[in-house]
This record gives sequence, structure tokens and C-alpha cells, in this order.
Amino acid sequence: MAEKITLKKDTQSIDLEIKDATVGPSVIDLKSLYPDTGYFTFDPSYSTTASCESKITYIDGVKGILEYRGYPIEQLAEKSTYLEVAYLLFNGELPSSNIALDEFRSEVKQNMTLPENMDVIFSGFGKEAHPMAMLTTAVAALSGSYHEGIDIRDKEHQKEFFFNVLGKMPILVANVFNHNQKNANVEYDESLSYSENILRLFFGWKDGYEINPILSKALDILLILHADHEQNCSTSSVRLTGSSGTNPYAAIAAGVAALWGPAHGGANEAVVRMFGEIGSKDNISKFIDKAKDKNDPFRLMGFGHRVYKNYDPRATIIRSQCHKVLESTGNDSNPMFELALKLEEIALNDDYFVKRNLYPNVDFYSGLIYKAMDIPKEMFTAMFALARTVGWATHWCEMMSNPKHRIGRPRQLYLGEKKRDYIPINDR
Ligand code: ACO
Repeated sequence: MAEKITLKKDTQSIDLEIKDATVGPSVIDLKSLYPDTGYFTFDPSYSTTASCESKITYIDGVKGILEYRGYPIEQLAEKSTYLEVAYLLFNGELPSSNIALDEFRSEVKQNMTLPENMDVIFSGFGKEAHPMAMLTTAVAALSGSYHEGIDIRDKEHQKEFFFNVLGKMPILVANVFNHNQKNANVEYDESLSYSENILRLFFGWKDGYEINPILSKALDILLILHADHEQNCSTSSVRLTGSSGTNPYAAIAAGVAALWGPAHGGANEAVVRMFGEIGSKDNISKFIDKAKDKNDPFRLMGFGHRVYKNYDPRATIIRSQCHKVLESTGNDSNPMFELALKLEEIALNDDYFVKRNLYPNVDFYSGLIYKAMDIPKEMFTAMFALARTVGWATHWCEMMSNPKHRIGRPRQLYLGEKKRDYIPINDR
């Protein structure tokens, strides 16, 4: 028998069922709360709300644990590849053989083409358009080509959508990257990995370009680290938007839009902007003071996390990659990178940050790596979107496969006016 928790007020009481998780916090099932008591719950930023059941990713923010389908992120980052992780996320298990992985890779590859009319979407944007504006629009535009005939409840159609979006995202991001570059068309190379191909799509048109294996390895690890992160803001946006039964590409576009914000995926761009603003190591203490000042809206970008109140496990992994990339690209003595490392050292020893468990998050380092790869800061969040697409698509498929799923519809604590009568304008 499931355990229950009793909620009492005056003479009224109600038993609420407790549902156990495989690992991590159990939840109180509140479905009967409103019908039985007339109360809603109040959790404005959903910090204590489990919005769905999921079997994809597990996070323990206090212990600094991140697992995909039960596999620790540290093991996946060290031993796996992005496409194998994508296989794992989607199928729930690692591929049983190289043949299974090759079949998966080939399905992704077959979808690495864009519908013809997509050129017009990109050419409609001005030179200065932000990459995330282009990417949000381009992903939404895919719904124009893939709408009629999609049965969102059909497993085969869900699978087709998954491979289609996973295959198309690198091409979309490469188009955004080379928006101002004519004749930058490079074909996917079968002999290269997914991450090597991304670098080739970005830079392969340049004379004499050669893929630096340290950079492609670091990119692959970054993609793995960003592949999924349970019910974060963008994934919840995909689920909420998708819950209405809308076109799945439109739901992914909602995720891309949500990711853009500086409190979420936009943080990697904001971090590098902040380094520019700080300017030199001599100014660090002034900016640390600003971050601590409650009357100043400035926050130290790349520090803190809604869930991790310990070191972000992804940050630990990427920090060492960051050092390798900086060394290999001759950036280890670049003043901006020196500034970043000094800032990290000072913040990690400052009482304000230590007391509030504000550690560097993955995006403190990801921007540094992308910058060293010659990827401009405006592109950083698009790189994050490229990695997270597999998570969004997997969550959408999981939600759609759940026969009990209903449209998402939060309620509110209404604090507006009570009922009042309309007075004609001349009588007011
Ligand atoms: N700089 C200075 N102070 C901070 C910071 C920061 N980066 N982050 C949190 N704090 C302070 C808050 O002011 C608050 O202080 P108080 O208790 O004295 O009022 C305390 O730490 C707790 O902060 P909250 O805002 O309650 O934390 P929340 O979980 O809501 O926010 C967030 C998390 C949005 C990530 C926040 O830490 C932040 O803005 N960080 C900078 C942006 C960033 O790096 N975002 C990337 C997140 S990772 C990702 O999306 C992949």
C-alpha cells in the first residue's frame, strides 16, 4: 500500500498519496487537493513541483549528481560519444553493438538536409540578426514543411520526428553561423564524427582548414554535457507547448526561445560579455562588490544554479577540457582567459559566494572553449541548443508516449480586483 500524508485544517483532513521515485525525492500526489479542499498549491517558479513522470535524466543538486538513463555524466563524458549518448537518451539503453550505433548514425545522417524553402528564411534576416532569433525562426519554419500527415501519438512518427530534428539541427546552426558568408556550403563527411562534422560545416570552407582533434573532442564532450538536464526551463517549455498537441517542431522552437535567456542558455554568451565589461584583472573586485550589492541588478554570470547547490558536475568535467583547449590554441596567456581564471579563484574564496553555494556552472567554461574555437559569442547559445535538441526531442517523445498525458495548465493565486460593475466612460 502506498504511504499517505495527511493534511489537516480545522476539522477537515485529507490523505494525499506519496509516490516513490526510483532514486531521489518522493512526491506528494496533489491531484485530489483542489477537488477535495478547494485549495491550489503555490510554487511560482516550480522549485518544488514535479511536473511529470520521466525516466530520462536524474539530478541530485545537493550531491552534484547528473545521470542520463542511470549512467553518471562523468563516465559518459570520458568514455562515450555524443551520438551514442543521443542513442542512450532516446532508446533508454546503450547500443548493444557497433551495428546498432551505425544504424542510428545513418538515420541521423539521412536527415541532414534542409527543405528547399529554408534559404529564404535565412536570407530574410539582416546581417546583424542575433543567431538565436534566426535559429528560433528556422526551427519553427520546419513545421511548415512537416505538418500534414504527422500523427503525434504514433511511435513511428515520433521516431521520424526525432531523427529529423537531430539531423537538421547541425545544418540549421551551420547556416546561422555562416549567415554572412557566401559560398560556405560544406557537405557532411561520412568518415567524420558528429562533432568533427560540426566544425567542418562551420569552418571547412576556409582554405587549408584542418580539424584540431583536441577541439573536436572538447566539442563532443560539451555536447554530451548539454544533451539533457531534466525539467529545466527550455525542456519544460517544450513539454508545456507540446502538451497542447501542437506541431513538434513548433514545440522545439519554444524550447530554443526559452534557452535564449541569460538566466538559462544565454548565460554562456553573458559570461563572455561580462569578461569584456570587467576588462582587466584590476577591476575584478569592483565587479564582485557589484554582484554582492542587493541594490545592483548585476550578477556574476556563470555562477550559481537553480538545482546545483554544490559544484555543477558538468563544470568539473569541462574545466579540464577548457585548459586543454586553451593550451592547444595558444590562448592560455590570452588576457581574457587569465581574467576568467582569476575571477573564478576569487569568487570561489569569497564568503558571499561560498555561503550561498554559488559555484561556477558549466556555462562559465563553455563560452571560453567556444571562444578559443573561434566561435563568436553570439553563437554560444545556438551551440547549446544544438546539444540540447536531443533532450528536448526525447522529452517530447516520452510525453507523447504517455497515454495519461493531458494539456499542461497551471493555475494562479489571483490578487487582482474583486468583481465590479462597468461604468460608461462619461460617468467615470
Ligand atoms: N551572482 C550574485 N549573486 C547571486 C548569483 C550570481 N550569479 N546567483 C545567485 N545569487 C544570490 C541571490 O542574489 C540570492 O542571494 P540572497 O539569498 O542574499 O537573496 C542567492 O544567491 C540565491 O539566488 P536565487 O536567485 O534564489 O537562485 P535561483 O536558483 O533563483 O537562480 C540562477 C539560479 C538563475 C542560475 C542564478 O544563480 C543566476 O542568475 N546566475 C547567473 C546566470 C547563470 O549563470 N545562468 C546559467 C545557469 S546554468 C544553465 O542554465 C545551463
